[in-house]
Amino acid sequence: MASDDKGPTGPDFSKGISSGDLPDGAMMAGRIGNDEVLLARQNGKLFALSAHCTHYHGPLADGLLIGYTARCPWHHARFNLETGEAIAAPALKPLTCWQVEERDSKVFITHKKAQLAPKATGSANGHFVIVGGGAAGFAAAEMLRRHGFAGRITMLSNDDATPVDRPNLSKDYLAGTAPEDWVPLRGDDWYAENKIDLRLKTEVASLDAKNKELTLGNCSKMKFNKLLLATGAEPVKLDIPGADQPHVHTLRSLTNCRAIIEQAKTAKRAVVIGASFIGLETAAALRARGVEVHVVAPEKRPLERVFGPALSDFIRALHEEHGVKFHLGDTVTAIDGKRAVFKNGGELDADLVVVGVGVRPRIALAEKAGLAIDRGVSVNEHMETSVSGIYAAGDIARWPDAISGERIRVEHWVVAQRQGQVAALNMVGVPTPFRSAPFFWSQHYDVPINYVGHAEKWDSIDIEGDLMKRDCVVRYRRGARVLAIASIHRDKESLEAGVTMEHRAAKA
Ligand SMILES: Cc1cc2nc3c(=O)[nH]c(=O)nc-3n(C[C@H](O)[C@H](O)[C@H](O)COP(=O)(O)OP(=O)(O)OC[C@H]3O[C@@H](n4cnc5c(N)ncnc54)[C@H](O)[C@@H]3O)c2cc1C
Ligand code: FES
Repeated sequence: MASDDKGPTGPDFSKGISSGDLPDGAMMAGRIGNDEVLLARQNGKLFALSAHCTHYHGPLADGLLIGYTARCPWHHARFNLETGEAIAAPALKPLTCWQVEERDSKVFITHKKAQLAPKATGSANGHFVIVGGGAAGFAAAEMLRRHGFAGRITMLSNDDATPVDRPNLSKDYLAGTAPEDWVPLRGDDWYAENKIDLRLKTEVASLDAKNKELTLGNCSKMKFNKLLLATGAEPVKLDIPGADQPHVHTLRSLTNCRAIIEQAKTAKRAVVIGASFIGLETAAALRARGVEVHVVAPEKRPLERVFGPALSDFIRALHEEHGVKFHLGDTVTAIDGKRAVFKNGGELDADLVVVGVGVRPRIALAEKAGLAIDRGVSVNEHMETSVSGIYAAGDIARWPDAISGERIRVEHWVVAQRQGQVAALNMVGVPTPFRSAPFFWSQHYDVPINYVGHAEKWDSIDIEGDLMKRDCVVRYRRGARVLAIASIHRDKESLEAGVTMEHRAAKA
């Protein structure tokens, strides 16, 4: 998360700017009193909105105008220029809109407009149940209410915390640089105010798809009219002696994160098992807390399978610069008390062990209910499973990706949220296909890496820019076609690549 305390800068829009300074298709940031405002002209119309994204405060003027939307450069949230609505995650809250006037060849912003609630869409009613209080589940519930769904919403989560900003759990919050109140996606009151019956610590034990009924962990039954399964993924546990000790952790929930933070306060040395995103982000966060960190992983290069050799080597060097010690080509075979024993013969005392060796989608509910399964829960482009009225979204869903033309399943925050949003629209009867380009980001110290598209295999990789200077675009190609791009500090190119992929898919 970043914040900008410099105060408003740029032209004072209350005094007006020359019309010629804002050609069609352009946007600029400026100010009105203490407010930073984005002024844009698109197809001859003028728009003025808050200048910063409601997700992590990204500067919208550095993003893109696409049709009547503004796209955030950092994590690709989309806002409606006319209403300020956050139409695609990860931003969920609207931007403030301002009144704009053009007179005497000058453009002025006059005053804030009243916030308009999005128009109610769809005519569905009844009882909608969401299983899962994570990215997809929360985004779906929020979208249902945002679009005027007036029926009952029940959200069942076996977690003990209200939905949280999960990516933060391996980044700023774990590093101790984000306050506690950044973590919940909404305050506790929000659920009651929006009549969302959020039931925490509630396990859903089984699903009777035919009779549209759930059985909860306490054996009680719950009927639904429509259902969204958003059960996410769970960390793979290590099956080695000593893995069940209290200083050995996985990281998925806020409770997991708090337990790691508590031990990191006194830990001198941590062993991170697995050079995964979560493993490496945890390593960075623990270094920020002054803990000595050793990463042990069987691969030769961290994240090479996702990023290829050059970016992988860069990430390794970046962590080494910050003092992380790698033990690659090795694994931990036992944790004997505080001693981690390595396969290759080494051993290390560690007062904290974090296991980040991957996750498994939680598909058991769907599988036992007889829904179609294909290394995940199979859904169509409307996020509906093989049973009408039952939807799935997020880490569990395998969907027909319009961009790659393949059926894919990913574990990305933005994808999960957007799929939850799309599922919600379809549940209320607004047919909406999911056609966003897959997107994720990862943060290592002060280096953000954005990734758009999907490339499990590629023929060639080309790098434009300078990786060592942390200013580059890495393209993953099959033949002439770019499947995905990773980028560092080239946010606009990342956004443009996503838009190009979506346009290409729309024409196909
Ligand atoms: C620490 C961490 C950092 C991450 N960082 C990033 C990042 O930087 N960028 C990125 O793109 N992605 C990141 N991810 C991945 C991202 O968080 C996931 O892809 C996303 O949360 C998936 O959303 P989901 O709704 O499918 O599942 P989740 O968010 O995991 O939510 C699933 C919910 O279902 C509940 N549940 C499961 N089974 C049951 C049941 N039987 N009964 C009741 N409730 C149940 C769970 O308790 C949970 O509330 C990160 C993940 C973690 C753990
Ligand atoms: S800061 Fe705008 S999408 Fe994250």
